[in-house]
Amino acid sequence: MSYFDQDDLPSNLSDNEHFQQIVDRTVSRRGFLKSGVGLGAAAFLAAPLAANAGKHAHQHMDHGRGHGPKKGPRIGFTPIGTSSADTIVVPEGYQAQVFARWGDPLFIDSPAWRPDGTNTGADQARQIGDNHDGMHFFPLRGKSDKEGLLVMNHEYTNYEYLFGAEFMTPWTADKVLKAQNAHGISVLHVRQHKGKWDIVRNSKYNRRITGNTPMQISGPAAGHSLMRTKADPSGKRVLGTLNNCANGFTPWGTYLTCEENFNGYFGTTSGADTRDEIMRRYGISARGTGYRWEEFDERFDYAKEPNESNRFGWVVEIDPYDPRSTPVKRTALGRIKHENCAYAFTRDRRVVVYMGDDQANDYIYKFVSDGRFVPGKDAQNRRLLDNGKLYVAKFSDGAASGDFMGTGEWLLLDKRANATLAADGRFADQAEVLIKTRLAADAVGATKMDRPEWITVHPDTNEVYCTLTNNSSRSVTDDANPRTQNRFGQIIRWREAGNDAAAMRFEWDLFVVAGNPIAYPDRSDLRSGSAAITADNTFNSPDGIGFDADGRLWIQTDGSYSNSGVYAGQGNNQMLCADPVSGEIKRFLVGPSGCEITGLTFTPDGKTMFINVQHPGEASGHPNSPTPPAGQSMDQFIAANPLAFSQWPEASGGRPRSATVIVTKKDGGVIGT
Ligand code: FEO
Ligand code: CA
Ligand code: CA
Ligand code: CA
Repeated sequence: MSYFDQDDLPSNLSDNEHFQQIVDRTVSRRGFLKSGVGLGAAAFLAAPLAANAGKHAHQHMDHGRGHGPKKGPRIGFTPIGTSSADTIVVPEGYQAQVFARWGDPLFIDSPAWRPDGTNTGADQARQIGDNHDGMHFFPLRGKSDKEGLLVMNHEYTNYEYLFGAEFMTPWTADKVLKAQNAHGISVLHVRQHKGKWDIVRNSKYNRRITGNTPMQISGPAAGHSLMRTKADPSGKRVLGTLNNCANGFTPWGTYLTCEENFNGYFGTTSGADTRDEIMRRYGISARGTGYRWEEFDERFDYAKEPNESNRFGWVVEIDPYDPRSTPVKRTALGRIKHENCAYAFTRDRRVVVYMGDDQANDYIYKFVSDGRFVPGKDAQNRRLLDNGKLYVAKFSDGAASGDFMGTGEWLLLDKRANATLAADGRFADQAEVLIKTRLAADAVGATKMDRPEWITVHPDTNEVYCTLTNNSSRSVTDDANPRTQNRFGQIIRWREAGNDAAAMRFEWDLFVVAGNPIAYPDRSDLRSGSAAITADNTFNSPDGIGFDADGRLWIQTDGSYSNSGVYAGQGNNQMLCADPVSGEIKRFLVGPSGCEITGLTFTPDGKTMFINVQHPGEASGHPNSPTPPAGQSMDQFIAANPLAFSQWPEASGGRPRSATVIVTKKDGGVIGT
């Protein structure tokens, strides 16, 4: 259902510079294309980390047991080929278990899943949500590798699969409720017994958080007039979290869920476009929405409740160990279409949170807490995300050290300290800077990026990696860059000045430029990708990304699975493993038809990997697309023929379902070795 996912369409009307213009200038200045060899270009783009690795202080206490990579981490598996099959493929010596499917019972008294799609809204509140995305494993009983709380996001829902054959006719309040309850978070108490993982269904820890769960709003924007609604005159209480894309976690044991495309739920039945500047910049629909909640739930009609949308687009902190705790929206981290968040420590133990705003031509941010992290003082640590400074990244082509390509700086978004914002009447106070984060970032001159998705911090070097998934809306090109459209994406990395996450300056590099040497065999064509990309590991649209404790970089894709045209030979969405030192990339897993692979977490021993298969059977771009009969939309066709595009995880389920997949090594070893 692509009409729910409009992040390809930019809403950034500022004339800020685009990152590609900076890359082009960098490349021109160093003259590598003029030297005449495409291979040189590719090698340049894949400059290794070796000069830098191993020199940095070990500041991270909580990433696990990695030991600094003097050379790269061991990647021991035999890579797999592409696949367009409707199944999960893993390397020789590995096994995959399907787990926690959409609709599976979460509680001992949960209603059973109905394969015909007729479960009610109340049923859905007691079952696993839909469209699994970011996820984190919190160990129980010390540092258990066999038992813990698996906390996962449910980003959105696909109506053509959510409902039975009657689909959206009639459209009812209970269908709206079911859709809202398919969103949010699941907390699952999980345990491994004789090699098999199960949900502990009678556990007190199991919890569903949905689009209707009561939450607290904290930080500088809490209580502001722009946050108040008829139902909540305090501006400090809100129902639910929505479009929970990817995630983060904190060193004090809480889960961070990130609200991404919240705009898609807000519209109006009034028939008139009365959106303000904020609503337009965040992409709220002028009139009706594809979700059609505004027809039964007034808070999603912006004409009736103009401030409700200001209460979404935040990072939400959840304590999974306390099932009665109230989730908290942390407004100090800014309001964007949050993809994920990744923490680091400054030298003086303040907490930094890196964040990307996933829309074509939007920005990369970091938050730096005012207070310091103190191990064991978790009540105090929990206030760290309420007070701090928010910055947005500006990249430049200044000369960097070593093999890195350019420099950059962090621009402060502070009403009192930034002269541009102080003079701008659109921001009466700092709360308005945070509520209108995108507008503030436009004003200070942040660099437009190609859809920043996940960010991850290397466990030893503190270098930060970010996927820029693709950008079909970019028109900036010049002689140095023949890619008129960025269809494949790239992974950028940066290191903070002095290796201190609090630094105001950084150096950046392109770790890998994805491309397709099968469709573009001429390696001087940048659409073939940088040097690390081969016909054997080609992929498009990197999205999920994360380091394991040994410093292996895991890359997940959410791109085209057409396996044709510019994507010929790339197969279904997949997961790869990269060595950040050598730049080597190997394919590890391929998903079933029409899915994306997202979400990544491990048990502390690194021997169990959890990943998510999201939206198997998505029709858009599917290689074997059946054509609906005349007069029937694709969604109506699927509602009547729910197994037409995918039967994963099992045809007897009646329809494809998002699910977690648990990967283990048959010999019980560490994943990736
Ligand atoms: Fe929810 Fe940007 O992926
Ligand atoms: Ca994503
Ligand atoms: Ca996605
Ligand atoms: Ca994506």
